[in-house]
Amino acid sequence: MYDYIIIGSGIAGVYTALLAAQHGRVLVLTKAALEESNTRYAQGGIAAAIAPSDSPALHLEDTLAAGAGLCDLAAVKLLTDEAPARIRDLLRYGVPFDRHGGEIALGLEGAHSARRILHAGGDATGRHIEKSLCAALRATDAEVNERAFVTELAVEGNRAVGVWVLNDGAEPRFFGGRNIVLASGGAGQLYTYTTNPAVATGDGMALAYRAGAQLADLEFYQFHPTALHLPGQPTFLISEAVRGEGAYLRNSAGERFMSRYDERGELAARDVVSRAIASEMLRSDQPVCLDLRHLDPVATYAHFPTIAAVCKQSGLDITRDLLPVAPAAHYMMGGVRTSSWGETTLPGLYACGEVACTGVHGANRLASNSLLEGLVFGGRVVQRTLERGAAWPERLALAPDFAPDLELAAGINHEDAKARRPDEVQPPTLANLQELMWQHVGLERSAAGLTSAADTLSCWHDGLAEPHSVAEHELGNLVQLGALVAQAALARRESRGGHFRSDAPTTDSAWRRRIVTQGLRAEG
Ligand code: SIN
Repeated sequence: MYDYIIIGSGIAGVYTALLAAQHGRVLVLTKAALEESNTRYAQGGIAAAIAPSDSPALHLEDTLAAGAGLCDLAAVKLLTDEAPARIRDLLRYGVPFDRHGGEIALGLEGAHSARRILHAGGDATGRHIEKSLCAALRATDAEVNERAFVTELAVEGNRAVGVWVLNDGAEPRFFGGRNIVLASGGAGQLYTYTTNPAVATGDGMALAYRAGAQLADLEFYQFHPTALHLPGQPTFLISEAVRGEGAYLRNSAGERFMSRYDERGELAARDVVSRAIASEMLRSDQPVCLDLRHLDPVATYAHFPTIAAVCKQSGLDITRDLLPVAPAAHYMMGGVRTSSWGETTLPGLYACGEVACTGVHGANRLASNSLLEGLVFGGRVVQRTLERGAAWPERLALAPDFAPDLELAAGINHEDAKARRPDEVQPPTLANLQELMWQHVGLERSAAGLTSAADTLSCWHDGLAEPHSVAEHELGNLVQLGALVAQAALARRESRGGHFRSDAPTTDSAWRRRIVTQGLRAEG
């Protein structure tokens, strides 16, 4: 029996494990190698108000503005107040943040009112954080089980008590734990174009749903405006920090078009920039380009060595050539609903990092708040387990000024879907799922597209054979999660933050409420 079973090894999982290892027996389960996670690919950095001219209050204001009315104020206050202390923790673990004249260098990103983005190795922030934290973890007594895929959470009575784990080819094995922590990251693989690595298949959200926990805000997905867009090449993130340093966006006519869409120009919120790029691409049938040619080349290479190297492999010099870019799925604001202590609605189960929905992002995440969220709420999970032991709150704390949640009781409505879809559907492959989600549950949505996508996903879900391999489990999780995302997006008949409905393009104050999806636990 472990005191802590931690699922996932990005910043949230590894930091939680490091703290937990000071207090009990820890098992970290990760489905690839320890250092492989979304965190590793984070470029821009981690936000914290550490400059003398900045303050947690300003960071809070910017986070709330990005969240478009749906942030949980108390959670955001914790996030922004605790940020400087968590940065000091990273420094203690040896993260080599970039410095300028001895002081930590601070970058700027979209919708931030101050320079507050810490970075390391220029655009290799995630890689450095992951490396430092994993090295520290390996020096503790925590057990690390790599290539370990969690197929189900074990629930007894109304409490999570362990996990079933598939290690290469073997039958699933059971591990019991007093505290189970989901830190398994996001679900970018729902979409054809994504900045996320192959491991981001939404497993934690699907596990929690099947164990009967609540999920929230599933309709809010953030599309990063600028992923390198070259035919036949994998999607690759071009950090927002590039625009923070002054890069321009130009359409196929060479025009800097962003001022036509938003007075903040290239540094408008991500959903605004993404839709502006999509609209320019639709108009001309040509890609939009990032232009860094007017920036100091020496500084540009120094700030963005990873981006420069990847572009070079495709024959592009970032200081001389225009870089074709397009939006790509980047970050899921919704997830497993938690209190500000990371407690889910299923006793014994905690969640932190991208898999969780703490309410800090609301309808849209402010750039560089995600690495921070993993630290702040990972730390709070461990604090809570020490203070409260096995006790569990009666109910989760909710933002007090919101209208009541809209609860989607039966997540996947199979009977209705079957009745509406007598025609032949494509087979449920990963590529078909991603294409369906990209077309109908992506940057721009409508009732017709969402209904058709939800029906197809529901039929796929019913028709999937019992999974045996990791790839089959992952596909099943993505189909299940995709159906829940489509249903939440269909229910929200307005546009807000990362959710844009072409048939309801404005924000409606009556919709200042959260959509909560109740998990369904299979009997037996
Ligand atoms: C980026 O570098 O643009 C990504 C940063 C983030 O998503 O927080």
